[in-house]
Amino acid sequence: MKLNPLFTVCALLLSVVALQGCGHSVKIAGDNYSFENGMIVFDEPQRAPGQESMLGYAADPIPVVRVGFVGLGGRGYGAVERFVHIEGVEIKGLCDVEADRIASSQAILDRAGFPKADAYTGREGYKALCERDDIDLIYICTDWVNHVPIAVYAMEHGKHVAVEVPAAVNVEECWQLVDTSERTRRHCMMLENCCYDFFEMTALNMAQQGLFGEILHVEGAYIHNLRPHWDIYYENWRLDFNQKHRGDNYATHGFGPVCQVLNIHRGNRLTHLVAMDTKSVVGLELAKEKMGVDEFANGDHTHTLIRTEQGQTIEIQHNVYTPRPYNRLYQITGSKGFANKYPVEGFTFDEGQLPADVHPSAPHTSYHGFVSREVFDALMRYYKHPIHQEIEEKARRVGGHGGMDFVMDYRLVYCLQNGLPLDQDVYDAAEWSCVGELSGTSAKHNSMPVKFPDFTRGDWNKIQGFKFAVAE
Ligand SMILES: NC(=O)c1ccc[n+]([C@@H]2O[C@H](COP(=O)([O-])OP(=O)(O)OC[C@H]3O[C@@H](n4cnc5c(N)ncnc54)[C@H](O)[C@@H]3O)[C@@H](O)[C@H]2O)c1
Repeated sequence: MKLNPLFTVCALLLSVVALQGCGHSVKIAGDNYSFENGMIVFDEPQRAPGQESMLGYAADPIPVVRVGFVGLGGRGYGAVERFVHIEGVEIKGLCDVEADRIASSQAILDRAGFPKADAYTGREGYKALCERDDIDLIYICTDWVNHVPIAVYAMEHGKHVAVEVPAAVNVEECWQLVDTSERTRRHCMMLENCCYDFFEMTALNMAQQGLFGEILHVEGAYIHNLRPHWDIYYENWRLDFNQKHRGDNYATHGFGPVCQVLNIHRGNRLTHLVAMDTKSVVGLELAKEKMGVDEFANGDHTHTLIRTEQGQTIEIQHNVYTPRPYNRLYQITGSKGFANKYPVEGFTFDEGQLPADVHPSAPHTSYHGFVSREVFDALMRYYKHPIHQEIEEKARRVGGHGGMDFVMDYRLVYCLQNGLPLDQDVYDAAEWSCVGELSGTSAKHNSMPVKFPDFTRGDWNKIQGFKFAVAE
């Protein structure tokens, strides 16, 4: 008897489902996740022999950090501009597909009195840059889909890596970063600059000193109408990605800072998420206008709710389409206090939460609103993070989103120079980046819960509390 080919494919597919369905686990052939007891669970590969955890990892000190930059568009150009203000740095190589972008960054070095850097052009120019033996750090500012191939190549050639946000575009890429970093013993830091903003670090300091009591709920977002920006991205990479991918593809600015408050993989962990998105209206209009296509996967507004092992909730939002004021939310709800960055910066506290000397003459509590402006200003001074006390003035002068970008670069170089663990490790990069695919998958399956992969492979409770490393 001759079988119909369609019948054969269906039978095969069903047998995979049936076989794996015995233990309440159902896997559709070709997907990298299963359905287990009402939850979507992404495959979690075992740690391969020869790999070791990178938790708390510190490399040998590098007194002069030799850097190669890859991707010199808007963000890479700005990074070169900031790096010429950091002491103990040599810029060895500049790489972009386009030669004129290298020339613009070279001009920054000329103006700053830095020696000329070697130029690398073309889509694979980064390979020769990574293969050099006189470079310590590869700093990647390309479009999203190029981050992981370049980062992996760099680590495999013995270089530490700093990579723009999001570090990876899906779960499988997140594992590639983790596995390569663990195998090569090279740092892989995602450049989540919002973790270094002045309000965020002050509020983190306050949270760590217990001012908000027990943290219960936090919020973060990337709400930024990108209408004036879409045409600037090289070869339309960003709209192109969003046209094809549902979910919160740019979660890290809102998510990273609140994960630090919750000590994620430092005694706490993300357990699962659910996501829901709106239909696409503005995205679809843009796709028709700029790409000539009639479909757009990314919802105009995406909400993601996440729960942690310690019973907290996190809400993350993404909207890069509709006319709204820029907003990263950054909100902390604790049992004894509250912090809010957007649209209005403010704090609220229960009675007796603040030390008496914060502002001796103004009331410290308010049940209907924020503390007064005088108390707010006093708190921002009183709890200014020690890193900001040290570098704020220079950071504001050099700039980069008001100075936070410079604080980030300064910290990266400081930790490398002093042989310290970096502020953000490869597990942060993976946890914060994987929200894109996890939220897209939840939304696609009617907001079904999705288990968070444990990129530390069981080590999330070994270090207690997030902290910035400081040289003795
Ligand atoms: N942290 C922040 O605040 C922030 C702000 C803006 C952008 N970003 C991130 O920075 C990255 C770059 O964004 P952008 O706005 O500069 O984009 P862009 O389009 O202006 O620049 C990207 C550059 O990468 C180059 N490039 C692409 N493929 C390359 C390759 N194989 N080798 C070398 N160069 C290559 C392109 O030629 C282009 O010059 C993105 O990941 C983005 O999400 C972060």
